[in-house]
Amino acid sequence: MPKPQPLLFARHVEDRCRQFDDLLTEAGYDSLLIHSGRPEMRLFDDQHPPFRAHAPFVAWVPEPFSSDSLLELRPGQKPILWFSQPRDFWHVSPEQPAAWWADCFDLRIVDSAAGWQDRLAQTCALAVIGRERDLGPLPDRADLNPEALLRGMNEVRTVKTEWERECLRQANLRAARAHLAAAQAFDSGASELEMHLAYLAGADQDQEHLPYNSIVALNEHAAVLHYQHRSAASPARRHSFLIDAGADHLGYAADITRTWTRPEHTDFDDLIEAVERAQLTLCDEMRAGSDYVKLHRQAHLAMAAILEQSGLVRMSAADQVESGVSGYFLPHGLGHFIGCQVHDVAGQISPDGKPLPPPEAYPFLRLTRTLVPGNVVTVEPGLYFIPMLLEKLRQSPYKDAVDWAAIDSLLPFGGIRIEDNVLVTESTPINFTREAFDTLDKASSRA
Ligand code: GLY
Ligand code: MN
Ligand code: MN
Repeated sequence: MPKPQPLLFARHVEDRCRQFDDLLTEAGYDSLLIHSGRPEMRLFDDQHPPFRAHAPFVAWVPEPFSSDSLLELRPGQKPILWFSQPRDFWHVSPEQPAAWWADCFDLRIVDSAAGWQDRLAQTCALAVIGRERDLGPLPDRADLNPEALLRGMNEVRTVKTEWERECLRQANLRAARAHLAAAQAFDSGASELEMHLAYLAGADQDQEHLPYNSIVALNEHAAVLHYQHRSAASPARRHSFLIDAGADHLGYAADITRTWTRPEHTDFDDLIEAVERAQLTLCDEMRAGSDYVKLHRQAHLAMAAILEQSGLVRMSAADQVESGVSGYFLPHGLGHFIGCQVHDVAGQISPDGKPLPPPEAYPFLRLTRTLVPGNVVTVEPGLYFIPMLLEKLRQSPYKDAVDWAAIDSLLPFGGIRIEDNVLVTESTPINFTREAFDTLDKASSRA
């Protein structure tokens, strides 16, 4: 783990305190309590899925796996952190908080929720963030997850502080290292499960610490956008490998996708190269003032141009986009905000709180805002050969524009996605993902 940067963290807390003071004052609250969450058992079971703290807590406290802690914020005061260290011989208790970050809080160690339960009974204008069933009954005057305040809290998270940018950069470095390990495993004939294990070893993180379930897809599995299994069998023919997997750094996510093939050259390699060129152009367009919906349309035009140039679809790129044909090959959005949630908050709402739903033609677009400096977004165009969608295209008025023999020959490859994480600045965007791969490349050429 790289050395933490206490100064950046202190500034992050200072900035957020100032912003939250304003939010609380505006909303008329004297105090805000943010619960870190509690593991949730499966129904009729004593087992729970891996725990991850609520993002509004992680946005303040770099302890994404700490349950039943409570952050207390009051305008003008140092934040109080009720940090839970259960006395438990079944599990390992969280370590003593490190001074580099804990010094930013008035730290109170408790051994269970009972240590802070009375904070919920404060007789002041109180807002509480958490789940009702974790917190128990609240006094009448307390507001649970008040909408207007939450909206303000989410808005604040759309512009990353220097600390958050550094965390995202480090998460990308960790994920890029793991991607290289997985690609190497692909080259040596590994199964999906083995490549997944190679990825985890490369990341030096277990799946339960990653920000989302890794997508580790060989061949036609790459056509399943969120392919959720990892087969232990190694198929006889290995055409392609799509891996969409991230990493965590102190609560912040990386979300990276790469698509690989075998050394022998096929038409699919040309498609990967073309998607990559288009993806890099799109990354460069992530600039302050750009409308992300327009960028999404631009991605459709770029993918449609590839379909036209490769002869797969005999329609102009503009006609493909206009008619919806490009949507059969690119059914998801260009990307989303990323931060302490992989699909970070406030992507479909304007800074002044107006809903910004995606256009009807693009229902899965998660980000519909105009970009500003400090936003961090993913850029993840793709081209897929998805049997279910191709069947629909075969029944559409555009069926004769498609080279079905060529499409059928691409089915075993599944699809292509290339995804980077990009910081919007006042000028040239910073691509954390490419930066990370470059750093590793330089490090390996020195070795
Ligand atoms: N890994 C899910 C996504 O790219 O949004
Ligand atoms: Mn993504
Ligand atoms: Mn992804």
